[in-house]
Parts: sequence; structure tokens; C-alpha cells
Amino acid sequence: MPTPILEIRNLQVTFNTPVGPLVAVRGVDIDVHAGEMLAVVGESGSGKSVSFLAAMGLLPRSATVTGSALLDGQQLVGMTPKQMRSVRGRLMSMIFQDPLSALNPVHRVGAQITEMLRAHTKMSERAANARAVELLEIVGIPQPGDRAMQYPHEFSGGMRQRVVIAMAIANSPKVLIADEPTTALDVTVQAQILEVIQRVQVQFGTAVVLITHDLGVVARVCERVNVMYAGCFVERGNVHGIFEQPTHPYTRGLLASLPQTGVGRLVPIAGFPPNMLRPPSGCAFRARCDHAVEACGSAIPPLVPVGESESACIRASELMGRK
Ligand SMILES: Nc1ncnc2c1ncn2[C@@H]1O[C@H](COP(=O)(O)OP(=O)(O)OP(=O)(O)O)[C@@H](O)[C@H]1O
Ligand SMILES: [Mg+2]
Repeated sequence: MPTPILEIRNLQVTFNTPVGPLVAVRGVDIDVHAGEMLAVVGESGSGKSVSFLAAMGLLPRSATVTGSALLDGQQLVGMTPKQMRSVRGRLMSMIFQDPLSALNPVHRVGAQITEMLRAHTKMSERAANARAVELLEIVGIPQPGDRAMQYPHEFSGGMRQRVVIAMAIANSPKVLIADEPTTALDVTVQAQILEVIQRVQVQFGTAVVLITHDLGVVARVCERVNVMYAGCFVERGNVHGIFEQPTHPYTRGLLASLPQTGVGRLVPIAGFPPNMLRPPSGCAFRARCDHAVEACGSAIPPLVPVGESESACIRASELMGRK
């Protein structure tokens, strides 16, 4: 395996809150390989967004980030805000559920893309304007020349998300973090946006991290998946391997809640995730796990190879193949 383009090691994020420290991410390792589409799944609050916001330097001051995040060999953790601004939008971009949050309502969309190009290159205004129109075309916006002159409110939700993608890829970043990019859109539009993201991945060789609740989408477009629970990864590996034979009881629960077709959204598993203001000792899933034994409480289980994937369940091998 070549060196990952983004290599996150022992990343830990703690928020200083009025009621005490909240450990949102508890020492995770993530490898993103050049040009791949990697899925990150897990229920609400498990730390998916915070992990990547930390790598992007986008967390509020109340967050303490430790560990390492190497992007093409450059250490992101501890960068100054100025250094981080030069990385964001150039080497790594992030898009979110709500495209409006990324757009300035009072500027024409073409001008916003032009600005993104000019912030990181010495491109002339004229060349940047022309490139902005090309980018709108690449993301599938009809009449891109005319549309470039319009304002965000003149676009539908799906078209706005296309504009945001055009801005995110303007400088051909190595990594695009797509944090639930289709969640706020109509079902038909969701498929189109996903197609645009896939096209970007293939055409530009951009590595994409797709954070999603939609396991159907994961099965369709991703090769590898990382499953997160309570600030840790509990299972990771090849999507088909894990869908065929999940090794962690949490992943099994997630998949068991899917309809037979394997297409659908995550349905919550019985019980609640732990309160991260007082994280439990040992495996964080054990309170909801039918297979938990006393030993599960002694230490956070590390990911170890089990079958085709890696699992953070101490009973994974023993439970494999059991219903
Ligand atoms: N600014 C903040 N201050 C304090 N706690 C925060 C802050 N942002 C996130 N958290 C907490 O960090 C934990 C992880 O949140 P995160 O947003 O990463 O979850 P997520 O997995 O992305 O969930 P979702 O699927 O709902 O987007 C949660 O417990 C959340 O409440
Ligand atoms: Mg999130």
C-alpha cells in the first residue's frame, strides 16, 4: 500500500464545556489513500464531523486537538490559522449538508469561485473568471456563463450544492471531505450530487471522504468503510467484506436494521450512546451489546485484524459466523 495522502494518528479532540471536558474523538487513526472514496459511518454524535473539522482546523477555540494529521506529508495539527488557511481550499476542502453555509449571499456565484482560485494562485482575474465558468460546467450546471452571474438564492438546493462542489475543487485539492453532502436534498437530487462527487473523484483523482448515514450509498460508491462509535473506530475494511460479514456487534446492529435490499438509512440500535462527558471504561458499546462480558470493561479495545477487516471487539473472532 502506498503512503496515504491523509494519515491521521491518535487524533483526540476534547471540548472544554461549562459542565466539564467532553471527549468527542478518542485517539483515532484514519488513512485516506490518493484518489479513493472512503466512507465514514456511525450514529449521530459519534465524532465523524469533529474528526475532520479538527484536521481542517475548523473547530472553535474551546476544542483541544492532539495527535497527528499528515496531509501529503505536512503536519496539520498545530498549524497557525494562517498556515491552515493556505491549506484549506487548496490541498483539502470540505463540503457540508447545507450549501448556503458555504456561500456568501451577496456575491455572484462566479465571483465566489473566482475568489477561491485567486486566493491560492496567481491567476489573472480574467483567467479565473473563465475557469469559474468551466468549473460550473464540470459540476453539471447548465448555461454556466449566465449562471455564474447569479446569486446563491437564485439556485435550487441541488444546484447550490453543485456550486459549492465547484468551489471546493477549484484548486484541485488532494482530499475532499464531504460531510453528509446530500442529506438536505430531495432523493432524486441526492443521486445527482453523488454522481458529481464521483465524477470529481475519477476525473481529478481527488480522494473523497464521504461521511454519511446512508449505507446504501456506501455500498454503491465506496470501497472502504470506517465505522465510528463514541469517538473511536470500531470496525474498518472493505465495504463488501464488512457488509457480508460484519465483525463488530455495533456494525452487525447497524446492518441488521437495514431492509433486505441492503439499501436504506441507519436505524438506531436499542439503547443510547454513552455520555461523552463521562465516557465509560473499556468498550463504549458494551452497555448496548448482547455479547458483552466482564473483560469488555477493562480497556478500549484496539482495532485488530479479524477475517477480512479490522475490528475493535475482543470477541470478534469468536462471534464471527454466529447469528
Ligand atoms: N462545538 C462543540 N462544543 C462542544 N461539543 C461539541 C461541539 N461540536 C461537537 N460536539 C460534540 O462532539 C461529539 C461529536 O460530534 P460530531 O458532530 O462529530 O458528531 P457526528 O458523528 O458528526 O454526528 P452527526 O451524524 O449527527 O453529524 C458530540 O457529542 C457533540 O455533541
Ligand atoms: Mg456530523
